[in-house]
Amino acid sequence: MERRTIGAAALAVGAVGLGCMPMSWAYSASRQRGDESLRAVHRALDLGSSLLDTADMYGPFTNELLVGRALKERRSDAFVSTKVGLLVGDQHIVANGRPGYVKRACDASLRRLQTDVIDLYQLHRADPEVPVEETWGAMAELVRAGKVRALGLCAVGARSSRRGGARLHDATIRQLERVQQVFPVSAVQAELSVWSPEALETLLPWCESRGVGFLAAMPLGNGFLTGRLRPGAGFEADDLRARHPRFTAEMMAANQPIVAGLRRVARRHGPGVTPAQVALAWVLAQGRHVVPVPGTKQERWVTENASASALRLDSEDLREVAELPPAQGSWD
Ligand SMILES: NC(=O)c1ccc[n+]([C@@H]2O[C@H](COP(=O)([O-])OP(=O)(O)OC[C@H]3O[C@@H](n4cnc5c(N)ncnc54)[C@H](OP(=O)(O)O)[C@@H]3O)[C@@H](O)[C@H]2O)c1
Repeated sequence: MERRTIGAAALAVGAVGLGCMPMSWAYSASRQRGDESLRAVHRALDLGSSLLDTADMYGPFTNELLVGRALKERRSDAFVSTKVGLLVGDQHIVANGRPGYVKRACDASLRRLQTDVIDLYQLHRADPEVPVEETWGAMAELVRAGKVRALGLCAVGARSSRRGGARLHDATIRQLERVQQVFPVSAVQAELSVWSPEALETLLPWCESRGVGFLAAMPLGNGFLTGRLRPGAGFEADDLRARHPRFTAEMMAANQPIVAGLRRVARRHGPGVTPAQVALAWVLAQGRHVVPVPGTKQERWVTENASASALRLDSEDLREVAELPPAQGSWD
């Protein structure tokens, strides 16, 4: 698989990573199957999809434990990317960016992941009660202590960032400018996909101009862009799409022209090419600093997604995707 480099620390990873979240969180988590997920992680590593993206809050904790089971056997094949700063409570998810907490959380992640070092440690969300420089300073100390190789920051959510007419990623860019004064940012993680291209406006250019890597979260539009979800089929209660405004039967039907466009492009590249692969190839085409982390718990999808690294979209393909109608339905 093609290799890409992340950030100032010059960390090399396979061009397509693996998002491990669906193995224990957000997508019908009640149907999780540990052994199948473990096979999916091994398949990813076999294919060169070395970047495994997890977080302590996925599960909570069980996702890191699962990834740790794979790492125990083959740490050197993997690039471990995890996150800190969000705690799952009974009713709410809360931020904790206190320096003492961050250091304890890192030690706990290292134990669960069965490793001595985390390749990329990301701040999941800044704590509104703690200056972000303080949290980032504690994370920088973890690099100096050899527990972490590089630092990343996740974009703040859509609903909390669009106040007073601000653009989607303005708040994230302000955070990035502040933490850069403390310690270099190696990667930014944010949603980027054919139906959520907002990061192309300011966030991606910000990263590119500063040599910062970009991890594209939700590159398959939470599964919609694969064309395998039927409008109206419904989702289990513990699946985030049961409450997602783009996944009502009406919105899924309204957004079908996007999938149809991906399918047209896929057909031009041969009979075995899928809309999911076109969606990932589109993300890969946005810059050499971009690494999509498609999420799945299934070995077959890992294999399909990894092959997208070999799919090159030409200018006609990119023009056709750019001319697709904008997605309907939004969290805002
Ligand atoms: N930093 C953040 O705040 C943040 C937020 C969200 C996500 N993330 C990261 O980004 C990763 C990716 O996002 P995501 O998992 O939410 O969304 P996604 O990658 O856009 O879509 C995941 C969904 O697509 C399905 N899928 C994957 N490949 C497929 C294929 N080739 N054909 C058919 N279906 C396929 C999966 O099915 P199965 O579940 O059946 O495998 C899963 O339901 C996450 O795993 C996580 O690591 C980060």
